Amino acid sequence: MSEVVNVGILGRGTVGGAFRRLLNERADMVEEVSGRRPRVSGVLSRNRGDFDRLLARSEIVVELIGGTDPALDYVTQALEAGRHVVTANKQLLAQHGPALVAAARRGGAQLRFEAAVAGAIPVIRVVQESLGAIPIEKVFGIVNGTTNYILTEMARSGLSYEEALKQAQTLGYAEADPTEDVNGADAAAKMTILARLAFGVPVKLNDVPYEGIEQVKPDDLAYAKELGLSLKLLGVAERVGDDAISVRVFPCFLYPGHPLSPIEGAFNAVMVEAPTITEITMSGPGAGGSETASAVLGDVVSVISGGSPLFEENARLRVARDVEMAFYLHLEVEDRPGVLAQVAEILGQNEVSVRSVVQRGRGDDATLIMVMHPVSEKRFAAALKKIARLKFLRSPPRSIRVIEEEF
Ligand SMILES: NC(=O)c1ccc[n+]([C@@H]2O[C@H](COP(=O)([O-])OP(=O)(O)OC[C@H]3O[C@@H](n4cnc5c(N)ncnc54)[C@H](OP(=O)(O)O)[C@@H]3O)[C@@H](O)[C@H]2O)c1
Repeated sequence: MSEVVNVGILGRGTVGGAFRRLLNERADMVEEVSGRRPRVSGVLSRNRGDFDRLLARSEIVVELIGGTDPALDYVTQALEAGRHVVTANKQLLAQHGPALVAAARRGGAQLRFEAAVAGAIPVIRVVQESLGAIPIEKVFGIVNGTTNYILTEMARSGLSYEEALKQAQTLGYAEADPTEDVNGADAAAKMTILARLAFGVPVKLNDVPYEGIEQVKPDDLAYAKELGLSLKLLGVAERVGDDAISVRVFPCFLYPGHPLSPIEGAFNAVMVEAPTITEITMSGPGAGGSETASAVLGDVVSVISGGSPLFEENARLRVARDVEMAFYLHLEVEDRPGVLAQVAEILGQNEVSVRSVVQRGRGDDATLIMVMHPVSEKRFAAALKKIARLKFLRSPPRSIRVIEEEF
């Protein structure tokens, strides 16, 4: 019989419960691949178990509580006491990653968090370990399943945002309070973690501007459908010039044939681009109890097998405040002479150049749909602010970014 490794589990909810079951079911296999047999040394929930006793009995602590209080305190204590920690908690990592890495160094412990980004897809391992020694140019993708489900349903059946959200809640793809998913905050936390790993820069959550999908209207998707485009909420972390990176979350039109275009429903997908590998795309379930638990179990096996992943944050790259993107602009206007000229004048004053214009409808139904060439996001935002004040607009202007290859 091989040596036992004691695993303490914090949380017995969706993921905690699934992880405990999986650990018991797969104990033989874990023993075979890692050389040690895992045993659950304690489980903590709100009204069951005692953290100090669990800590004293565990070599590995698996944190599946969520949030930062008391998770931050528990994880810090565990790492400082030399216990290896596996967590699925993106908020904890996004807000306190550097402090936790420092605690792990102090305690000589490992900190692993594969399940914190893109659920069952092994994206952390790929960025941190498989590609750990090559210069990554860009990591981007669909890292929130709730919003991808909503956008897929809006495109497929013409539902409004509100109807698609309700459907997602009924089917369990969205929580009762979906705010952090639909406004982009959840994706921003995940991109903070990915950007730190990919570029070795101590990106803070506040450095990541995010937009959600609440403003997307069925006619944006109808327009996309007509041109064969898809609309996705993307998280993007990329190098900008020689000395900067940019990390953002925004809804975006993708051209047909883009590797992220066919990713539908609650699935996630992440692409990594680097000169030496061209590009890699990974897709799969981004959430779910057993899916997330399998990523947690993979981390437990890695911890037992030994070998700390790379986690250096010493790159001298700043976080860029502005980047270039192409935009689609949707304006509902009164159909009268001079409208287009006034819009074009504002765009011109801000050095925004128009690639195509289509007018739909007449009279009270007139709509202008414009696509811009890539432009500084700041200049486009300045133009949009001025356009929003034009008297002939029947509703506020709507803009969506475009990944413009082949558009
Ligand atoms: N669900 C997913 O699909 C998914 C996917 C990826 C990542 N994650 C991450 O996995 C983590 C767990 O998510 P979940 O969906 O399993 O959450 P959950 O179902 O709400 O379960 C949370 C568990 O933590 C316990 N807990 C909460 N506050 C506590 C406290 N102060 N002290 C001790 N225990 C406490 C709860 O205890 P009670 O049982 O007493 O309430 C419950 O057992 C989160 O970080 C989440 O972001 C989840």
